[in-house]
Amino acid sequence: MARYVVIASSNGSVGMRAAADVLASGGSALDAVEAGCRLVESNPEDHTVGLGGLPNLVGEVELDASITDGRTRATGAVAALKGYEHPISIARRVMERTPHVLLAGEGAARFAGEMGFERAELLTPEAQTEWEGKLRDEDPDLEPGLLRYHEHAARYLHLTRDPEKPAGGTVNFLALDAAGNLACAVSTSGWYFKYPGRVGDSPIVGAGNYADNRYGAAACTGRGELAIRAVTAHSVVMHLTYGLTVRDALRHALEDANSLEDAYGTGLSLLALDPHGDHAGVSNRAGSHYVWMNEETPEPQQEVREVVGAGT
Ligand code: GLY
Repeated sequence: MARYVVIASSNGSVGMRAAADVLASGGSALDAVEAGCRLVESNPEDHTVGLGGLPNLVGEVELDASITDGRTRATGAVAALKGYEHPISIARRVMERTPHVLLAGEGAARFAGEMGFERAELLTPEAQTEWEGKLRDEDPDLEPGLLRYHEHAARYLHLTRDPEKPAGGTVNFLALDAAGNLACAVSTSGWYFKYPGRVGDSPIVGAGNYADNRYGAAACTGRGELAIRAVTAHSVVMHLTYGLTVRDALRHALEDANSLEDAYGTGLSLLALDPHGDHAGVSNRAGSHYVWMNEETPEPQQEVREVVGAGT
């Protein structure tokens, strides 16, 4: 049995070593997943998480994140949060400092301020150019200021895009520490050009994130609406309670999500880690992989995800 393990979606590579260092020095799974996630949130090259995330239809970067503690099954989450670089740490404060599980929008931003988090401009020039370019492609006669889109954003909902395309995606970190505790962190800027206020699976416990020391932890990337409808992360862990292997539990949960119809796309990828340190990943798209480290690996290792069904 592994002494410690951390696994992450492929865009978690930038935070892998930091997360493994926490575990190697005897730190908790909770600290490890937060540390790994923060580095992805600060990576301006990743247009699907934190700083540099592509904005909603009216040009605002709105972030979703959650953290789960498998020891207590406590959870903290923030949704549609604007103006803070580290939603994962704010989610952890929600878990540790409030009687609540999920704070959204203005309330989440207010709480972040009260907890001493510093405000940040998250819309990078590159992300702004991409957003404006996409909207100008729709209407070449557009006047400066993009005001029309602020007044009629719903007209442009066909522009909304899966954060896994073309690269990167929501980030998942799952860890097992030397004390046998599991934790899971998920952070995202959600679908590009989403309607303002849209919330995906990432901050919804049971949908995009779940951890229970007794059975395992699971997390999702891809079309969050599917993971919400199929309660996918909890579904993986439920299958583990019935004695399935990690891989079989993931297959069953993804097959269930795959059976849902969705006109906006059905791409979904899952990761899971059990209390023995066994882990696996599945995706309904070919070519997806994940990364992991344990006490025997000096460098992050890459693993191909098994393809289950076909997403769009
Ligand atoms: N899975 C991330 C999202 O749909 O926002």
